[in-house]
Order: sequence, then C-alpha cells, then structure tokens
Amino acid sequence: MSQKKIALVTGANKGLGLEIARQLGKAGVQVFVGARDAERGKKAETELRAEGVDAHFVKLDVENQSELDAAVKTIGEKAGKLDILVNNAGISSDWGGSITRESFAATLNTNVIGPWAATEAFADLLAKSGHGRVVNHSSILGSIETLKSTDEMNDFFTYAYASSKAALNMVTVIQSKALAAKGIKVNAAHPGWVKTDLGGANAPLDVETGAKTAVELALLNDDGPTGGYFHLGKKLPW
Ligand SMILES: NC(=O)c1ccc[n+]([C@@H]2O[C@H](COP(=O)([O-])OP(=O)(O)OC[C@H]3O[C@@H](n4cnc5c(N)ncnc54)[C@H](OP(=O)(O)O)[C@@H]3O)[C@@H](O)[C@H]2O)c1
Repeated sequence: MSQKKIALVTGANKGLGLEIARQLGKAGVQVFVGARDAERGKKAETELRAEGVDAHFVKLDVENQSELDAAVKTIGEKAGKLDILVNNAGISSDWGGSITRESFAATLNTNVIGPWAATEAFADLLAKSGHGRVVNHSSILGSIETLKSTDEMNDFFTYAYASSKAALNMVTVIQSKALAAKGIKVNAAHPGWVKTDLGGANAPLDVETGAKTAVELALLNDDGPTGGYFHLGKKLPW
C-alpha cells in the first residue's frame, strides 16, 4: 500500500476541481483526476504533471455506476486505499430561471445522488486509509437558514440547484454518522462565489481562494470535525 496520501477529485478537468487537484498535489498527495470526458481529463492530467503533481486521470461520470465501480477497481489496484474523496462534480441547470422536470431531476442526479453513490462505492477503500476524508462540494445556496433569514440572495436561489445542495448537506450528515466507525470524516464545503464556468465572470473570488475550503477539509487531522458545513474554517448555518 502506498505511503503517500491518495486522493480522488471528481469533475477535476476544470474549474474548482482542477485547482483542488493542483493544491492537493502540491501538498504531496497523489491525485486521481476524475473526469467524465477522457480528452478533457487527460489534458488536465498533462497540465498537472507539467507542474510536478503526481496526477492520474480516471474516467468517471458520477451518474454512471459502472464507471464508479471501475474507478474503485482501478484505484484499489494502483493504490490499495483512498485517503481523500472530493465530491466536486456539479451542475447548475436552472441558473437563469428556466427549469423543467427533466432538468430538476438531472441536477439532483449529478449533485446529490452522484456524491452519495461515490462515497458509498469508495467507503471500503477509504476505510483502508484509517483516516478517510470525504468533502462534498456544497454551496451557501444549500443553506435553508440563510434563505429564510435574508432577501439578499433571493436572485441566486433556484429550485433545482439550491435544493440539490441542501440535500447534499443532509447526505453529508447521514454519511458522517454512518462512516464514523470506519475513521472516515465527511464534511460539506462552500467555496465562496468563484469565477468558473459555473460561477460566471462576475464572481469575486479566484479558483485559488475558492479551492481552499475543500483542501483544508481534505487534509483534516484526526481531531478535526465531521458532519459539518464550512467556508474557510468557519461553520455555516444549515
Ligand atoms: N463556482 C462557484 O461559485 C461555486 C459556488 C458554490 C459551489 N460550487 C460548487 O463547486 C463545484 C465545482 O464547480 P465549478 O464552479 O468548478 O464548476 P465548473 O467549472 O462548471 O466545473 C464543474 C465540473 O464538474 C464536472 N461534471 C459535471 N457533471 C459531471 C458528471 N456527471 N460526472 C463527472 N463530472 C461532472 C464538469 O465536467 P465537464 O467539463 O465534462 O462538464 C466539470 O469538470 C460544483 O459542485 C459547484 O456546485 C461552485
């Protein structure tokens, strides 16, 4: 079994996922770069390797159970364990107002069922770490208390995306309890509003800052929290 920490970041071919892979790699972690498109994933692997990161592309559409099972097999054979799973892949199909039954369901499938299924699939390899860490990339838009207590973010609350992140927060709490006995910590991260294809050009934060919360939670010590919801070290209201 590898002495190095091993991580898998989903949706790591661009945006926050690519930057989380980069920051984990620079911290000495071997990183499996999950991407649903092989060409985009290999390009990210090449880019990261050129920067000295021990990066390995793995084909992974989080909606596809056979690809999840194949990724578990690949990482099990190559590394024998998984220390860090960052469930980063996400979509925002109802940004801009239009929503259909199909787009609502697609958002839940990617943003909630995908991370839940990935954590379930990798639980045994995470247990082999003895110090497994799962980070679910949530959003402040999943905070029901925030929605209720202010009108400032009303324009950003959309049925599918916000509901998906609130549901992901619940998955985080349940899996943190279910996996605690295996030494696995499960937390939800809000990256801030970040300039990416999803966040848009008006976002105030760059990806370097946006990746920090997830990276901190990925590298938590054994005395760190589990079942929490954080932004840059601060607890967020559910
Ligand atoms: N940017 C923000 O302001 C912000 C704020 C709060 C939370 N977040 C969360 O942070 C995460 C990353 O967002 P981002 O801003 O970096 O977005 P992004 O630039 O659009 O990147 C999203 C990534 O997810 C991948 N992806 C989408 N569906 C997938 C699937 N079914 N299987 C595997 N990969 C899939 C995309 O792959 P393709 O390239 O193949 O499409 C891409 O790599 C998301 O969960 C998002 O909700 C972002």
